[in-house]
Amino acid sequence: MVKVGALTAFGLLSLAGQVMAQQSVKVMPFGASIVTRCWRNNLDAKLKAAGVKNYDFVGSQQGSQDCLKQFPGTDNDHEGHSGSQATDYAAKGNLTTWLNQQPAVDVVVMFLGHNDVILGHKPLDTIIKAYDTLIEQMRKKNPKMQIVWSNLTPVDPKRWDTSSNPNNSKDIAALSARIKEYAPSKSTSDSPVYFVNNFEGFNPVSDTDDGEHPSTSGNEKMASKFLPAAKEAIQAVSRSSGIIRGVLGVRRVTMADRRRTK
Ligand SMILES: *[C@@H]1O[C@H](CO)[C@@H](O)[C@H](O)[C@H]1NC(C)=O
Ligand SMILES: *[C@@H]1O[C@H](CO)[C@@H](O)[C@H](O)[C@H]1NC(C)=O
Repeated sequence: MVKVGALTAFGLLSLAGQVMAQQSVKVMPFGASIVTRCWRNNLDAKLKAAGVKNYDFVGSQQGSQDCLKQFPGTDNDHEGHSGSQATDYAAKGNLTTWLNQQPAVDVVVMFLGHNDVILGHKPLDTIIKAYDTLIEQMRKKNPKMQIVWSNLTPVDPKRWDTSSNPNNSKDIAALSARIKEYAPSKSTSDSPVYFVNNFEGFNPVSDTDDGEHPSTSGNEKMASKFLPAAKEAIQAVSRSSGIIRGVLGVRRVTMADRRRTK
């Protein structure tokens, strides 16, 4: 931790250098298999087209080459792990591990919960408790974490409601409705939660490959839905931490700077 009051001119120079070297906003797309899909690349292209460029997607995983073919030159990094459940992540601390592997993450773009329902058959209250834990883990790592939180896309009842689990599509709809209430309720001024409604307007037949995972049209819808919230979150971080007016000129040293220089 740099003690700002004790900075020498040299210290300030090197601090400014470090901040400039790392000033792009770190954005972690986080979740399960749907996060591996090309909506991220589509979102990256849309953000850049909208003039938002000072960010970097981070994560230990890489999307498929197909995503790069569809969206050349886009950022393919993410933290989506197929088959994963929010309840397991919360219990096992995976998110903390992944956040620790990256330079200070500023924004988490979260899409997670399908597998808790369709594989884990977890009660909705249990899933919401896991979300509480995940938010705590994000804020423990960064008290100013900007959290872009989507509810879930619907699943096709013809594909996913089986004789042993007849309520999957209804339970996904119910969880999505819960997230719509829950996400805004977790927002704070230091660490806003930006709710994204990917349930609405998504057709689980025509917008998916398999009744669950987004097809090209589904990826387009998701990217368009994520765009305004992702833009707002990235710009909020830039406003609070990216201001350097000349190397020795006026600048604000923010908590984000201090985190980065730890
Ligand atoms: C989550 O963490 C547990 C415990 O370390 C590990 O066994 C599991 O493989 C991790 N999950 C993923 C998707 O990496
Ligand atoms: C499915 O939902 C109905 C009511 O909506 C409920 O009575 C039934 O127990 C549920 N079945 C399962 C397996 O969750």
